[in-house]
Amino acid sequence: MRKIPTNSPSPAKAELPLDLTGPHITTGASAAHRLYQALCEMIVSGLVKPGEPLPPSRSLAKQTGFRRNAVVTAYERLIADGFAEATVGSGTFVAARIPARAAGPNKQKAVVEAPRQGAFSLGCTHIDARAVQHFRAFVGRRMRAFGSEHLHYGDPRGSRELRAAIADHLLSARGLRCDPDQIMLTSGTLHALRIVLSAILKPNDQVWCEDPGYPAARKTITHCGNRAVHVPVDEQGLRVARGRATAPSARAAYVTPSHQFPLGVQMSMPRRLELLDWAKQAGAFVLEDDYDSEFRYDGAPLKALAGIDHLQRVIYMGTFAKTLFPGLRIGYCALPERLISDVTAARAALDRFPGTLMEGAVADMLNSGAFAANLKRVRKLYREARDALAETLETASGGALSVPVPSQGLHLVARFDPSIDLSVAAVAKQAAGAEGWLLADTYSRAQPLPGFVLGFSGHAVPQLVASAERLARESRTALRASGKPARRA
Ligand SMILES: Cc1ncc(COP(=O)(O)O)c(C=O)c1O
Repeated sequence: MRKIPTNSPSPAKAELPLDLTGPHITTGASAAHRLYQALCEMIVSGLVKPGEPLPPSRSLAKQTGFRRNAVVTAYERLIADGFAEATVGSGTFVAARIPARAAGPNKQKAVVEAPRQGAFSLGCTHIDARAVQHFRAFVGRRMRAFGSEHLHYGDPRGSRELRAAIADHLLSARGLRCDPDQIMLTSGTLHALRIVLSAILKPNDQVWCEDPGYPAARKTITHCGNRAVHVPVDEQGLRVARGRATAPSARAAYVTPSHQFPLGVQMSMPRRLELLDWAKQAGAFVLEDDYDSEFRYDGAPLKALAGIDHLQRVIYMGTFAKTLFPGLRIGYCALPERLISDVTAARAALDRFPGTLMEGAVADMLNSGAFAANLKRVRKLYREARDALAETLETASGGALSVPVPSQGLHLVARFDPSIDLSVAAVAKQAAGAEGWLLADTYSRAQPLPGFVLGFSGHAVPQLVASAERLARESRTALRASGKPARRA
């Protein structure tokens, strides 16, 4: 073993700037190991310079209160790992070149933007106090009865009890008849999309996407290695003929037919049939994202596209993120019979099966009627919020904004006249400190319209009104500054 020299005290720092308690220290480790970690941290963070002498082991033992043996062991390890060098007779020195893996740890923290909850944020929900009370009681009861069903690996599709409750809900609420065996629980719509894409598509396969559309779904599609083909949307929904012309042999189409995101149009029956015809001819599948149909304010609920197709070519995706709350992370898809085994295998390969702890409580919510009662109460609140927001924006903007009132959903679109520069909306949004989205940000290739996508669910009406007044005021100001008069869009 190499002899550890004792440094002459004069050139070394009298006291080393050691941190023996920071996050780099392993609590409970030996004194030698902790000292080694503190020395490494000191060297790596540049508190001592390459080539600088380290104090003799005796001095460092005195400074730290550790035994000299511990100091010698720490120095030995430091030398062995290349952080220090020893010269017999001269002492121990910080290495002239610090090992690359240690010298260059990226101290910059990754920036992960926290989800926003401010004015017009999308994806907020109101949790009715009675629903929370019911949910707590159901969770409590299920936890007290905690049994073997949670102790083993389970069905990749999730609990049959919850799948059966969802099948009942889909039949009564969406006119979609399916067997619980066709349902797979997921941790939300995007998760369902990912599982299904990985089961039915090959890398580089084309997927039609609505333009404008839901940016998160588009991202999932490209993250899965598939190619998003941007198909424009008009007042009847996805322009199927354009999809056929651009990518006739795409393998799938992702659509929001009941309430197009973000424009809010409902896909007309001729378009639905046209889309299903294409899917049949092309041997493609339609991915129906039915994200907000439980929140219908006017008229009877529409049958899901999957209901029209009898789950032959359509894969239906639903979520409890809006009907209950996003943190639950429970969504589901209903699958054509022919896809059950492939999608189940893909799920097993991805993350095996869904967490079991909350499934029972969600089934209790559905089966007890607490889910439907909650929907009825929050639907009323959201309708009031929608009306207050639309009315305030229209009035306070003096005609600068046109605000079609959506007949369902949790957001609305407020638009400037199409001739207005897109920057007007960006300036107004920034000046008003509004969240929500710029309508232009939901476009890919189609000519974007100037305006906003504004969430109204889960926001208190007085705050919504105040924020709408501010946004309308800033819209008028930005419009004036752009040299365009505020006229009805
Ligand atoms: C169009 C659309 N689909 C689906 C969802 C729900 O996604 P998830 O269930 O993954 O939370 C949202 C949420 O905002 C949405 O806007």
